[in-house]
Amino acid sequence: MNHYRALRRELAKRFAGRGVVHLEGGKPVSRNFDVDYAFRQNSDFLYLTGVEESGCHLVLDGSREILLVPRVDAHHRVWEGHVPGPAEAKKLFGVDRVMYADELKKALGSKRPVPAALVRDALDEMRAVKTEGELALMRRANKISGDAHVDVMRRARPGMREYELQAMFDSACVKAGLKHLAYPSIVAAGVHGAVLHYRKNDAVLKSGDLLLIDAGAELGGYAADITRTFPINGKFTRRQRDVYSIVLAAQKECIAHARPGVISADLHVRSMRVIAEGLKDLGLLRGETDGLVEGGAVRLFYPHGLTHMLGLDVHDVTGGKKRVLPNPTKVPVRFVAKLEPGFVITMEPGIYFIEALLKDPVLRRKHKDSVDFAKADSYLDFGGIRIEDDVVIRAGGPPENLTSVPKEIDAVEAACAR
Ligand code: GLY
Ligand code: MN
Ligand code: MN
Repeated sequence: MNHYRALRRELAKRFAGRGVVHLEGGKPVSRNFDVDYAFRQNSDFLYLTGVEESGCHLVLDGSREILLVPRVDAHHRVWEGHVPGPAEAKKLFGVDRVMYADELKKALGSKRPVPAALVRDALDEMRAVKTEGELALMRRANKISGDAHVDVMRRARPGMREYELQAMFDSACVKAGLKHLAYPSIVAAGVHGAVLHYRKNDAVLKSGDLLLIDAGAELGGYAADITRTFPINGKFTRRQRDVYSIVLAAQKECIAHARPGVISADLHVRSMRVIAEGLKDLGLLRGETDGLVEGGAVRLFYPHGLTHMLGLDVHDVTGGKKRVLPNPTKVPVRFVAKLEPGFVITMEPGIYFIEALLKDPVLRRKHKDSVDFAKADSYLDFGGIRIEDDVVIRAGGPPENLTSVPKEIDAVEAACAR
């Protein structure tokens, strides 16, 4: 309660004397007739209140905090059960005053509201740096999600369907009391591992193939975002081991260099360089590493970002307008930020053999001197490998890694052992 109050005070302080801050919570979204989509509170609202119910508002007027809750009738209680009334909500959420949502006009009074865009930007700024309270939630969301990953590694067998593993992951999180996943689980066997946002999750697992699982649950709204790639029969082949080792080396090097003051885009380039060197060793790329990175050849095998912010949203706020930076690198990256203590970011390099890229005639022409396409074609049955951990940037030292799921080759094989 104190945690949320401190955040509300901080926000109110930023707009002291400049009007009243009004924030609307999430509303239920209808799926059809009497069925709504599972409700998940708006992240800004959750950040400031911890209130998980729909239909609420928050009004911050100087030092006064008003939470507005929906007025429910007996009919509503028949179907939905108990809903806290004003007195109970006041105690539960530690606000000065609770009113009904239909009294919003009265709560706002005659003062002018602070423009919503300014409030959003202030929240982007605040949410980027996690407090110790938020980190405690993120640590726990990661631990539970990580344990679920280990459970899946242990129980996966050739012949199962991807959705069986999805069900194992989801059930391990729900059993631990985490009601929401942070995003739809990607459970991708074999070639499907090369589909970056694969969601079908219905293919049969084959011995000799890899399985890529990108899944995480949220606690108190705070997300975990974890990817592991492991051999379905428990033992990496030589070829899988070679590619896996490159991705792992890229990830470990970037984690070791994730410090305050470092620009995230530079870390991305660092990961591209490790991957370029590794793919050169495998004979898939040839030429100077700088040229392969800047000319885009590496992107044929690693076509996504290294990192993004993580928090109440899986692709979390990036810190507001005051932190916007030009991209200092020669490669296109979407997320450019100077890392600060308290930022939580993912570290998720990958290597994929994606038919849509490797068979593209324009790309084949463009990169004919840099890529051994005949060799790359022989990997089209491979799928992809991504290794994703979540780390907290710390002052004066290496980051804290929130993710402790096995990722060294021997440790992954041990976790798969049956
Ligand atoms: N799970 C989405 C991502 O890794 O960014
Ligand atoms: Mn991610
Ligand atoms: Mn992910």
